Amino acid sequence: MVDKKLAEYLNKAIGMELQVSIQYMWQHVIARGLKSAEVSDKLKKIAIEEMQHAERLSERLDYLGGTPTTQPEKIVVGLELKKMMELDAKAESDTIKVYKEALEYCGKINDPVSRRLFEDLLVDEEDHHNFFETMLEGN
Ligand SMILES: [Fe+2]
Ligand SMILES: [Fe+2]
Repeated sequence: MVDKKLAEYLNKAIGMELQVSIQYMWQHVIARGLKSAEVSDKLKKIAIEEMQHAERLSERLDYLGGTPTTQPEKIVVGLELKKMMELDAKAESDTIKVYKEALEYCGKINDPVSRRLFEDLLVDEEDHHNFFETMLEGN
């Protein structure tokens, strides 16, 4: 039987990943006409990575005997590029905070595989966070 709190962390994480996957893909579509080819391409790439994260977390929760959520957290697309980057930097920093808590909890319940998964994802989330923050610099 899956640890209840771990299942909550995994489902929170899945909901956050589904949210940003949709959020970034829609921003990619909208941002296309704003002389923002670099940002737009990168948003698409990150959106796909986020969906892969959702899949990995769901596989883990399913393996542990839990039921992965299909519900994204609240999607906030934004209308112009700067606002989008602000929303995305915030989404990444929220995710980083939750994953750090989650991996600490995995240590407590002696689940090194789940811990490793959160650590792996954290590397990507810090990279995403850095990208959005860099885009905001000088704006
Ligand atoms: Fe992610
Ligand atoms: Fe991310």
